[in-house]
Amino acid sequence: MDLVDPDIDRYLGRWASMDDPVVAEMEALAGERGFPIVGPQVGRLLLALARSIGARRILELGSGFGYSAWWFATATGPEGRVILTEGSSDNAVRARDFLDRAGLGERVEIRVGDALELALEYHGPFDIVFNDIDKQDYPRALPVALERLRPGGLFITDNMLWQGRVLDEDGADEATRGVLDLTRALYAEPDLDTTILPIRDGVSVSVLRG
Ligand SMILES: C[S@@+](CC[C@H](N)C(=O)[O-])C[C@H]1O[C@@H](n2cnc3c(N)ncnc32)[C@H](O)[C@@H]1O
Repeated sequence: MDLVDPDIDRYLGRWASMDDPVVAEMEALAGERGFPIVGPQVGRLLLALARSIGARRILELGSGFGYSAWWFATATGPEGRVILTEGSSDNAVRARDFLDRAGLGERVEIRVGDALELALEYHGPFDIVFNDIDKQDYPRALPVALERLRPGGLFITDNMLWQGRVLDEDGADEATRGVLDLTRALYAEPDLDTTILPIRDGVSVSVLRG
C-alpha cells in the first residue's frame, strides 16, 4: 500500500535529499541490497527533532550500517554521543567505516548484540531513544526507553504504519502485532505525548512529560 501518493513522495524526496558523498554511498548500498534504512525524509525529521531539543545523548536500537545514526550524529555536534546497537557484526563494521569517513567517528559508540540487552548497560539519561529493531520486539522497547529518557526527551519509532498492515488488526502476523501493541501502549502511557507522523512508513514521536 502506498501510504503517501507516489508523486507527493517523489516531490518530498527531491527536497529531502542530502548532498553528502557518504550519505549517497549508504543510500546506494541500501538500494542495491534492499536494506531498510529510514531514508532522507525521515533522516531530516530525526535531524530536526534532535536539534530542536539540543540532543547530546542518543540511544539507537537497531542501527543497521549507520544511516540513521549519521543524521543523529550530525545533529548532536562534536559534544554529542550516539550509541548504536546492532545484531549483525557485518553491519556494525560497515557503520564504523561509513561514520569514520563522514568525520563522525568520535561521536559514536557501536555495539554488537541484542539491542534490548545492550541497552541495559546504559542508564542514560538520554535525550532520544530511537527504536528500529525487529517489529515483534517493539513493545519491549518501550520500558527500556521510559527508564532511560530525561524529562522532555523523545522516544521515536520507525515503521509505525508498517506499509498499511496495521489496518488488518484481526489478520495481523507477529511483526504487525508488535507494531500494534506498541501503538496501543504509547497512546495509553500517561507520561507520554505521542503522535504518529505519516512520513514514509510512519514515525511515532513520543515526548516524555517533565
Ligand atoms: C530497519 S534496520 C535499521 C536501519 C537503521 N535504523 C537505519 O535507518 O539506518 C533494522 C536493523 O536492526 C537490526 N536488529 C533488529 N532487531 C535487533 C535486535 N533485537 N537487536 C539488535 N539489532 C537488531 C537488524 O540487524 C537491522 O540491521
